[in-house]
Order: sequence, then C-alpha cells, then structure tokens
Amino acid sequence: MRLTELDKTGEKIPVIGQGTWGIQAGKSKDYYEHWKKSLTHGIKLGMTHIDTAEAYGLGTSERIVGEVVAKYDRDEVFVTSKLLPTHFRYSQMKKAAEKSLERLGLKYFDMYLIHFPNPFIPIKRNMRLLEELLAEGKTRYIGVSNFSVKKFQKAQECLKKAELVNNQLRINVGYQKHIINNISFYQKHGITLTAFSPLGHRGLKNLDLELMEKLEKIAERHNATIHQIAIAWLININGVITIPKSSQLNHVEANALASEIVLSSKEMNLITQSYMK
Ligand SMILES: NC(=O)c1ccc[n+]([C@@H]2O[C@H](COP(=O)([O-])OP(=O)(O)OC[C@H]3O[C@@H](n4cnc5c(N)ncnc54)[C@H](OP(=O)(O)O)[C@@H]3O)[C@@H](O)[C@H]2O)c1
Repeated sequence: MRLTELDKTGEKIPVIGQGTWGIQAGKSKDYYEHWKKSLTHGIKLGMTHIDTAEAYGLGTSERIVGEVVAKYDRDEVFVTSKLLPTHFRYSQMKKAAEKSLERLGLKYFDMYLIHFPNPFIPIKRNMRLLEELLAEGKTRYIGVSNFSVKKFQKAQECLKKAELVNNQLRINVGYQKHIINNISFYQKHGITLTAFSPLGHRGLKNLDLELMEKLEKIAERHNATIHQIAIAWLININGVITIPKSSQLNHVEANALASEIVLSSKEMNLITQSYMK
C-alpha cells in the first residue's frame, strides 16, 4: 500500500483506507462478523485508515471498528471519526466526542472531524472543541468534512494555534467539482483531501455512458476493473486519499490493489474531461 503524508504533519497515511458507513444497528451476529472480517482483511492489505462517525448506525459502526482495531497495536491503525453537528451546546459536543472514544475503545482518535457545517451552530464553538481535544491528547489531528473552501478558511481562522489538516469531501469520477474548482487551494496549502463515496456510494451505478466507456478502455489497458480505475484516478491526484467501503473480501482486495495503478496524464485528463463536457 502506498503511503502519503497527511498535510505537512510528517504522519504517513495510506492513500486508500476503508469506509464504514452502512454498518447498521440491530443486525445479527453473523452480519457484524462479516463486516469485521472485511475490515480486518483490508487492514492486512495495508488499508489501515478506518473512517467512521458517531452518525453511522447510531454508533454501531464505531463499536464494530473498536472491536476490529482492538486486535492491533494502537499505532498500527489510523482511526478517523466525526462529530455529528447537531449538538448545540459545547458540553454536548464534548460528551459526544467522549462517547465516540468510548464506543471505539480508544483513548484518542487519530483524526477527528466536524461531519458537516451546521448554520445554526457557530463554527467557533466546533473549533474550540477540536482545539481542546487536541490539547487534551484526545485526538492527534483535526479536520472537517463537507466544508466549502470559504467555510474551511473561516473555520481555520477560528483556531488559535491548531491547524485543520483535512477536508473530507464527496469526490469520485462522476462528481469531480471539488477537484475541478478547488484542488489548487488544497494543494497550495498542503491540506489533505479525503475523497468519500469514491465509488459513488452505490458502486458506480448510473455513470454517464461516455465516462463509463472511457473507464472501461483504461481498465482494459491496466488489466483492472473500472472500480479500481475510479480509485486510482483519485489517488493519482496530489494530496488526495480515499476510503472506499466494501463488505466483500474480493472487493476489499481489488480496492487495495488499486494503490499500485499509475495513470498517465493522458488517462487522468480523459476521465476529467468527460466529466466536464
Ligand atoms: N463525510 C461524509 O459526509 C461521508 C459521506 C459518505 C461517505 N463517507 C465515508 O466514505 C466511505 C465510502 O463511501 P460510501 O460508503 O458512500 O460508498 P463507496 O465506497 O463509494 O461505494 C460503496 C459501494 O461500492 C461497492 N464496492 C466497493 N468496492 C468495490 C469494488 N472493488 N468493485 C465493485 N464494487 C465495489 C460496495 O459494495 P460491496 O460491499 O458489495 O463491495 C458498495 O455498494 C463511507 O463508508 C464513509 O466512511 C463520508
């Protein structure tokens, strides 16, 4: 698995990690064992960055991730979780972060994000929480998710000393606007982008026909699947990492192998241009 630097932190993070949205509450033991197996398989293949959130399965995802990572030394995995921005008071936010840690069975997150901006909650309050968690050693890095560049800058301005090292955004071959409009901002400042829903959430269904044909041609050339090419397109962009989700071992393997695919600039442009048409 190829590693890259998280922002300018010196921290090495795999370009491909694993998502966990969709792990539901109230399911059978077999269901959870199945998820734990695929996450564990992914970790073995180097996808050691696991993304979760208090919102996923009402905390169930964090619980399952906690059971998986408990089998590893703390520094062998990189766990990101997110605060659901529905906690209005500062004390509620702090409690929510602590509950997430409790469910994960961890003393600290590797990275903690604000899941999305909430216009009814002052961003300053969210940033105060992130800065305090950092100071208390309850998270190693902080960031945001679903923030526009403008909101990202505003959030950064609210921090006294700390830096936001990550924005987690929806980016995939069928949804490229953050790359086309704003990648230069993130690259200029060295901020890492995590591409969520790298396979369009449903495994690249309903892609534009022209784009699909191009992906198929590129895939054939690389002896790969279109899913692997879609992931490769993301991680071939400087400063972008991703977190595909899969509950199937063969897909987990395919996703990990995508880290080895190097696309030429012509192939990268072909994918970008067909989106822009
Ligand atoms: N910050 C946010 O607001 C936000 C929002 C959405 C998602 N996320 C994060 O991003 C993660 C990934 O996004 P996502 O869950 O929306 O979906 P995704 O990773 O874009 O796509 C998942 C779908 O692709 C299929 N798939 C995975 N690997 C495949 C492969 N190699 N070949 C064919 N199909 C494959 C999966 O099916 P199988 O299980 O059958 O493989 C599943 O149906 C989430 O789990 C979550 O952690 C964050």
